[in-house]
Amino acid sequence: MSVRVSLPARWRTVTARRATAAGRRHPALVFALVTACAAGVAIAPAGPARAGAPRYLDAGAPVAERVRDLLGRMTLDEKIGQMDQIAVIRMQGDCEWSGGELDETCMKTVLDDHAVGSVLSGGGMGPARNTPAEWATMVNAVQRYAVRNSRLHIPVLYGVDAVHGHNNVLGATVFPHQIGLGATWDPRTVRETSASTARAVAATGIDWNFSPVADLARDQRWGRYYETYGEDPLLAGELAAAGVEGIETARGAKRVAATVKHFAGYSEPSNGHDRVPADVSPRYLQDTLLPPYRRAVEAGARTVMVNSGALNGVPATSSRHLLTTVLREQWGFTGVTVSDWEDVRALQTKYKIAADYPEAIALAVNAGVDMAMEPFDAKGFSEGLRTAVDRGLVSPRRIDEAAGRVLRLKFELGLFEDPYVDPAEADAAVLGADKDLARRAAADSQVLLRNAAHQGRATLPIADSAKKIVVAGPYADDINGQVGGWTIGWQGVPKGVELPGTTVLEGIRAAAPATARVVHAESAEDAAREATDADVTVVVVGERPGAEGGADTPRPELSTAQQALVKRVADAGRPVVVVVLAGRPLALGDAAGTDGLLMSWLPGTEGGHAVADVLFGKVNPSGRLPVSWPRRVGNEPMYYQQLPGTNGGAESAYDAAYAFGAGLSYTDYAVDAVTAERASVRPGAPVRLRVTVSNDGSRAGDLVVPVHVSRPVSEVLAPPRKLAAFTRVHLTPGQSRTVTLTVPARALAVTPGDLDGADAPRVERGRYVFTAGQRTAEVAVR
Ligand code: BGC
Ligand code: BGC
Repeated sequence: MSVRVSLPARWRTVTARRATAAGRRHPALVFALVTACAAGVAIAPAGPARAGAPRYLDAGAPVAERVRDLLGRMTLDEKIGQMDQIAVIRMQGDCEWSGGELDETCMKTVLDDHAVGSVLSGGGMGPARNTPAEWATMVNAVQRYAVRNSRLHIPVLYGVDAVHGHNNVLGATVFPHQIGLGATWDPRTVRETSASTARAVAATGIDWNFSPVADLARDQRWGRYYETYGEDPLLAGELAAAGVEGIETARGAKRVAATVKHFAGYSEPSNGHDRVPADVSPRYLQDTLLPPYRRAVEAGARTVMVNSGALNGVPATSSRHLLTTVLREQWGFTGVTVSDWEDVRALQTKYKIAADYPEAIALAVNAGVDMAMEPFDAKGFSEGLRTAVDRGLVSPRRIDEAAGRVLRLKFELGLFEDPYVDPAEADAAVLGADKDLARRAAADSQVLLRNAAHQGRATLPIADSAKKIVVAGPYADDINGQVGGWTIGWQGVPKGVELPGTTVLEGIRAAAPATARVVHAESAEDAAREATDADVTVVVVGERPGAEGGADTPRPELSTAQQALVKRVADAGRPVVVVVLAGRPLALGDAAGTDGLLMSWLPGTEGGHAVADVLFGKVNPSGRLPVSWPRRVGNEPMYYQQLPGTNGGAESAYDAAYAFGAGLSYTDYAVDAVTAERASVRPGAPVRLRVTVSNDGSRAGDLVVPVHVSRPVSEVLAPPRKLAAFTRVHLTPGQSRTVTLTVPARALAVTPGDLDGADAPRVERGRYVFTAGQRTAEVAVR
């Protein structure tokens, strides 16, 4: 449904003038346009087409026909514009970096002179006043300018990084970052948080979310570790697929497209730094790096964003192999590929594989990039691509194909019918939405790693009889630290912004028994003193928020000051629980070995309640590490899928402080049996397993059940075990349940052959052993 939107006064005058200008260029549309503008409705009203109206405006016509009709009316420059994405900051204030109110002359340059087809808000780029209603008003205004002033009234696609909730918008509920959701091992939770995010995004008029990330977390030094669902390709793929489904099936004010990023192999930072060239063998690429993207693409993602790095000497942005052979020809992707930030230009400026910008654009476009996230230079891109066409470097057919895909996405999202949203509804739809879901997701992401007995009693949950609870540590009362990067600002919440939410200290205060005294010890001295007669001391440690290269660290460890604090408090001899708020496992050093250790990740605005829910036993912890926790700095990159022989021939090189899949609960579970439905299957067939699990303890809870596969003998080196399937089972005390899990054939496939690794992955014949807990089942593939 189209909605009426009231414009600020200065907009109304702009609009009137523009409408006349547009009419001069296209008199046939002048009446319809002026009427439409006056009523605030879309250019192509839903319902029966008016006689004589262009085919592309007929909402009932098949999308392919609408695209063809529209392309047939467009000039080359207009088509080129569809392939460009510009940052909104170029249309605000001074048209450069100032931000602020949208400005008509800047909008004219971008949307009118260069007919740019897509706009993005990069991290932290929002309206002058950061409220949902102002976001909706800003996006509507950009949209309205494009619809009214482009000769053919083509709406823009507006993109944003809503990677853990609608995180740029002040007051939006912030969910845990992906790494925390990875710890839930729960596709349903990911589907729900992603759908909630999409509803918030839609309420502000935005149609495109650059989420989810399908990269892997294998190098703890890498600044984008926390943006992944973990180190395992199967887990990351299942959760990224759930993210895509959640975003694209959400029922909000608009439809929202998801983006699978960063395709492909972005997470192999050879030296631990963001966006650096990597050398990966074709076998590792095919068997480990590509599967999660593929799973997410096949879940229906409408767009794919390209890796900023280079693989084996070829920037992904110029790789025809990745962007066309693999993505389109092998996987059947039909949507839009967008470059990452300034990456088309980077082919010239950073990678030096193009002599000038037109050459760089040609390389990217011919490899398969449909849209360049330019994001600052509309003129440069338009002229550059135009020059590339004039030089014969890019064919008009390829331009039609790329622009056609962008237009098809706009038609599919319904943008020609419903480009606007009602700003009056945005605040209610976004502010504090789905807080319960955020609290549950954060609680389910908590991973309890240690829970030692202190004088015969488990340290956690904290007893109802506790009289004195001390809370210490630099992150105990730090909402900004708790939400991490990509929150309000790109690198994290900027100074001076007050983010609504609940810190761990506040969560503990709210959850503690009425008879307990909660003492916040702010200095190490206070903490050490107060701890001496405390029933328990909770020390909240962590790392500073950051994003991309700004979050790279050569030493992923707890700071010396934090280690010293924990040690001093522990020396008091009373129970100590360390809570870690961080986007990656940090080597603990002197802080290791406390009675309790809880990994809380970057749990978002409801994180304080979620942590308290687990500390006080309202929630039985169920999270499991989606990554490996190195013992000490220097162990990176660390992940469980080490190849045999990595440790000089020893059984396994894998020596984690806490292994992939680790996590305790307040009850006792057992895996009682694993059986295969059939003792043998053909290559390419899925394997069905039945797993019986039980709860032998006294509390209800959710048990995450990973099933690993290993092969006694394999033609090429293979990790001793790989995750093959997983599920989450709810079990009441004393309950036993049998669940069926399906192992997709792809989870068994490896790339055969010699070291060129050029063959397609396939399932070798032979024995496969499936393990859950201590139980195994064997299946022969023949
Ligand atoms: C990041 C992407 C992001 C884009 C837009 C890039 O720097 O790599 O993940 O979607 O910026 O903000
Ligand atoms: C980053 C983007 C980010 C933007 C924010 C860029 O340098 O690469 O991801 O959105 O800055 O201003």
